[in-house]
Amino acid sequence: MNILAIDSSAAQGGSVSRILVDHALALLLQAHPGATVVRRDVGAAPTPHLTPRNLAGVRGVPSTPCEMAARALSDELIDEARAAHTILIGAPMYNFSLPTDLRGWFDYVLRAGETFRYSEAKPQGLLGGKRVIEEQYRQAA
Ligand SMILES: Cc1cc2nc3c(=O)[nH]c(=O)nc-3n(C[C@H](O)[C@H](O)[C@H](O)COP(=O)(O)O)c2cc1C
Repeated sequence: MNILAIDSSAAQGGSVSRILVDHALALLLQAHPGATVVRRDVGAAPTPHLTPRNLAGVRGVPSTPCEMAARALSDELIDEARAAHTILIGAPMYNFSLPTDLRGWFDYVLRAGETFRYSEAKPQGLLGGKRVIEEQYRQAA
């Protein structure tokens, strides 16, 4: 079993979502002692924002070095997601939504024809059969 754990908090010390991911990972490893874990910290190392310079790396045909670098990162993140049986996402709430760095991860992983496809009715996921656990934390009101 392969587990992909994603951290997206901008905070390091004292990050509650990281503690929740640690806890969920410990439980998963207890249940699957031989599991391999890849931990991707997009809070500490965010994907570059999509701009006119790199956009074709994730949506189009890359040709410039900047576009090729975006494609290479997108391929790497997609490979990690594809190889995972379980994806564990640490998702703190930032301004009533998810952190931009987690949204950035989705921008690089969602590529038409690779991880989803358009259909008449609605977009269809192509990675299928994965368990996704979202550890969300927000301050109590
Ligand atoms: C920039 C920012 C925006 C936040 N916005 C919200 C919010 O809209 N609603 C909420 O309940 N908590 C909000 N919080 C509180 C966080 O969800 C909470 O502190 C959480 O623990 C952050 O995750 P972390 O501990 O892993 O860093 C916000 C925190 C930050 C830093």
